[in-house]
Amino acid sequence: MTTPSQPQPLTIPPRLLMGPGPSNANPRILSAMSLPAIGHLDPFYLEMMDEIQDLLRYVWQTENKLTLSISGTGSAGMEASLANVVEPGDVVLIGVMGYFGHRLVDMATRYGADVRIINKPWGENFSLAELTEAIETHKPAILGLVNAETSTGVRQPLEGVGELCRKHNCLLLVDAVTSLGGVPFYADQWGVDLAYSCSQKGLGCPPGLAPFTMSDRAWEKLQKRTTSVSNWYLDMNLLSQYWGEPRKYHHTAPCNMNYGLREALSLIVEEGLENCWQRHQQNAELLWEGLEKLGLVCHVEKQFRLPTLTTVRIPQGVNGKAVSSYLLKEYNIEIGGGLGELGGKVWRIGLMGYNSRPENVLLLLEAFRKVL
Ligand SMILES: Cc1ncc(COP(=O)(O)O)c(C=O)c1O
Repeated sequence: MTTPSQPQPLTIPPRLLMGPGPSNANPRILSAMSLPAIGHLDPFYLEMMDEIQDLLRYVWQTENKLTLSISGTGSAGMEASLANVVEPGDVVLIGVMGYFGHRLVDMATRYGADVRIINKPWGENFSLAELTEAIETHKPAILGLVNAETSTGVRQPLEGVGELCRKHNCLLLVDAVTSLGGVPFYADQWGVDLAYSCSQKGLGCPPGLAPFTMSDRAWEKLQKRTTSVSNWYLDMNLLSQYWGEPRKYHHTAPCNMNYGLREALSLIVEEGLENCWQRHQQNAELLWEGLEKLGLVCHVEKQFRLPTLTTVRIPQGVNGKAVSSYLLKEYNIEIGGGLGELGGKVWRIGLMGYNSRPENVLLLLEAFRKVL
């Protein structure tokens, strides 16, 4: 075998990440991540894990004991949520209003669920009345919803949904990948039983971890299983014994990623969670106003728009891909294209975590003005 030529030292172009994620990390996070690695059972590291769990409870707004960060991206959180509570034959009802609803369907099917689907056009969400009717019809063991559908930019309200699920003895499973840290989320108040997110969006870390939380009701369903969790790596029976007593080795934790997450969460405590949500909302509104002034149209009705992710319709006659390439080449700004049904129809603009700042909004608007 021939030896490859010596690679040049790694340099990364100075991109401003204003797409669907990842977002740029606060330098404090990057600096925390560059600290030396430590043993995953070192008493110092175990203490830090406790701290992370407390900080995560704050951003999830929950008292759930089982709250931790999964070693893996948002999809690992999705996988963990389903793997632990779905037993073969369980009826799982999924609300599909975009690309990530379909991913939930795909995963739940792989775990042997009897999957039932309700659909909404891409750009809309489900009303409580529609969810009530679907639950009464399908009598699911689990209802899966995407709180922030990154493919469409739609927020799915959750007020009243947990109550509805409890009335029908059903667990509420929520994808909060594009909401945690950037959009108000009240796990306990809303009666959410399982929720997962990612490190690289509202929390502003690099990708690699999936914050996760599980209610006592979901834990009970896990304990009553007659089959073992078919995914060893994500089995909460095992992970809970590493994140809590008896602190048993499970896997070699990505300690540097967790340093970064701890710093990101600490930044949110410093700012105040509500202030952080408000900052995301204010900067999104600045963006929406600016886009409107440029004659561009947002795909989603204002009331249900995500502050973290805005879908903008590509005007007729404009080559969407050429515009994104121009922004990248001339301004080092990354924005996203449409996904699935919205492919070629929208741009996706992210304002997440550290990147949700007025100067970024103004820079992007100016770049758009020039390119259009
Ligand atoms: C709503 C939603 N769910 C799940 C995922 C999957 O997360 P990841 O790509 O971090 O695995 C994403 C990714 O963007 C997402 O936006």
